[in-house]
Amino acid sequence: MRRVVLVFALALPLATLAQAPLPPEPRTPPLLLGAAWYPEQWDEATWESDLALMEQAHINFVRVGEFAWSKMEPSEGNFKLDWLERAIRAAERHHIAVMLGTPSAAPPAWLTQKYPETLRTNADGRKDGHGNRQQFDWSDPKYRELARIIATKMAERFGHDPNVIGWQIDNEYANESYSDIDRTRFQQWLKAKYKTLDNLNKRWTTAYWSETYQSWDQIPIQSTYGNPGLLLNWREFVTDTWRSYQRNQLDAIRAHVEPRQRITTNMMGWFNAYDHYLVAQDLDFASWDDYIGTGQMNPAENGARHDLTRGFLRKNFWVMETQPGFVNWSANNNALNKGEVRAMAWNAIGHGSEAVEYWQWRSALNGQEQYHGTLVGADGKPVPLYSEVQQIGADFEKAGDALAGTTVESDVAILQDYESRWAIEWQKHNQAFDPVQSLLSFYRPLHALAGSVDIVSDTAPLSRYKLVVAPALNLLTPAAVTNLEAYVRGGGHLVFGQRSAMKDEDNTLFTQRQPGPLAELLGANVAQWYALDKSVPVSGTWGPGESKIWAEQIAVQSPETKILMTYGKSNGWLDDQPAAVTRKIGRGSITYLGMSLEGATAEAAAKWMLKEAGVEPVIPKVPKGVDIAVRSGNSKDILIFTNYSPETRTINLLTPMDNVICDCKVLATGPLGIGNGVKSFTLPQYGVAVMMYGK
Ligand code: GLA
Ligand code: GLA
Repeated sequence: MRRVVLVFALALPLATLAQAPLPPEPRTPPLLLGAAWYPEQWDEATWESDLALMEQAHINFVRVGEFAWSKMEPSEGNFKLDWLERAIRAAERHHIAVMLGTPSAAPPAWLTQKYPETLRTNADGRKDGHGNRQQFDWSDPKYRELARIIATKMAERFGHDPNVIGWQIDNEYANESYSDIDRTRFQQWLKAKYKTLDNLNKRWTTAYWSETYQSWDQIPIQSTYGNPGLLLNWREFVTDTWRSYQRNQLDAIRAHVEPRQRITTNMMGWFNAYDHYLVAQDLDFASWDDYIGTGQMNPAENGARHDLTRGFLRKNFWVMETQPGFVNWSANNNALNKGEVRAMAWNAIGHGSEAVEYWQWRSALNGQEQYHGTLVGADGKPVPLYSEVQQIGADFEKAGDALAGTTVESDVAILQDYESRWAIEWQKHNQAFDPVQSLLSFYRPLHALAGSVDIVSDTAPLSRYKLVVAPALNLLTPAAVTNLEAYVRGGGHLVFGQRSAMKDEDNTLFTQRQPGPLAELLGANVAQWYALDKSVPVSGTWGPGESKIWAEQIAVQSPETKILMTYGKSNGWLDDQPAAVTRKIGRGSITYLGMSLEGATAEAAAKWMLKEAGVEPVIPKVPKGVDIAVRSGNSKDILIFTNYSPETRTINLLTPMDNVICDCKVLATGPLGIGNGVKSFTLPQYGVAVMMYGK
């Protein structure tokens, strides 16, 4: 990342870059504003006024088609795509591009009736049926064949359409299936992986409770309680099956479309029924559906979900759906405050999104989601939120040039691992322990200070990071061990959080105590872990504080390993024992936290980690309630400030920057300003400033 603070030190104009050849004219603006539009639900006569209102709100793309199978293929083999062509042309007349969704998340009634074998079976053995959506079995060959045919027909027809910019496969992959046939497929998958039953029995320690298998067809499906090796393999099978389910449609589409039509699927934040790193591998870009549900948006927690999605392919992503004020599926579907939807849109852009799409444009007259937020009502007229979205569209037009070619370039990475999350969720040991909350306890202070954080897998390339944090990285594959060790030996600063490095790729305990294969490098290990019924005091380098929910007693073996934090008086076992230790390894270091991070201790720990790793805070003092995000590229840094505090806040910069959009009050302009260079400004609640440094 080009750090703004470092740039200031030079206080010189940036060197003129050699003239590069001009890139081809982009087909879409750098920041996209969209809506989920369902033309199949409406008389074509209504399309024109809907699209005109979209255009007036600066909406420049719609996603269409993802639940319209029965309209595209009203009976088997009877394809009707002319209406879709007319919808695409109508959108085009309003300068609105189209993202096409394949309709496989909503199989038509004729399909369910004719091919009941395509229906999914719930974990309790009950078959799903028609009348909702996602009732298909993700592993069924007939279902895949039918999904492939409709995807192919769509791709043949629209693969060269100039107004089609991309494809969404299916919609929110979620539910696996538990029929006897699924179980047989799982057994075959295990056989291909483990080769022999002896191997499987040994690696899963099936001698325990006489679980030993004599033939492959004895192996059950277990998804919540059972042998940890079996549980893990079922989730890995679920993942692999989603990947091949997706591949089926990807291959069909790629065979017919121009490469400029990029392909994605919409994922769901922390949702963890499958390993998103593996499923995202085959896509051109990642996207997700950003919903708050009840309450207000927390910029750090929502930002972490964006960073998670950006980490799937380690590049910019899209928000494929987000709530226009409120949803319909929470216990209390309160609306976001006036101004908060716009702040939320900038939260997405600040964390690397290229698009924000509202679900949905207009209330469907019937169907399950009549109460959901929209931008126009059932009457086709704008709801109050419409004008706020119009303002977002105007912002995006103003800021597009500045943000084009930029992304989030962080010096700090947090590692996230599905296998580790599953393993802890199956054996929480303390119901209150949540791996995502554990990750966020590091993320919040690190993001506030560093301005940007990557969230990536434990096998991602790490050498570009100054600091890598691994919270609750419970399972380590051999590849992850190699990656982490090479990172530390190469001068990196690695910090493990509690419950890390306990088990291997079969969910089997390591025979070395935590952090397992890295304990020797640390010069210390975990003597014992404790689920806590009350918090334990801690003190040391990061000041006095407490560890809640969980505590690990650390034993130090190497004289080079330094104790950072110590437990106070509690259960006797932990009294005066090390709570966090660190060891320098060449220019790098390895640190292990047995304690949790709470409040002021978390902030002090984050400051310490950043200082050890040589990462400068993005600006020296951020006012309370102000969120910062940073995007960089093309010789510029863009700092996005949003004030979530009810009070107006003053922000002081070290050097003047250009205001790309402004609802701030300028207080001072500095001598080095370019354009409208501003050094000090105030922001009201939900006010956004997009400040650019560079050219
Ligand atoms: C019971 C069982 C043991 C073991 C323990 C664990 O006593 O008999 O096999 O599961 O519980 O507490
Ligand atoms: C999900 C789905 C949409 C819609 C919204 C409602 O994100 O993908 O089809 O049901 O939820 O919030």
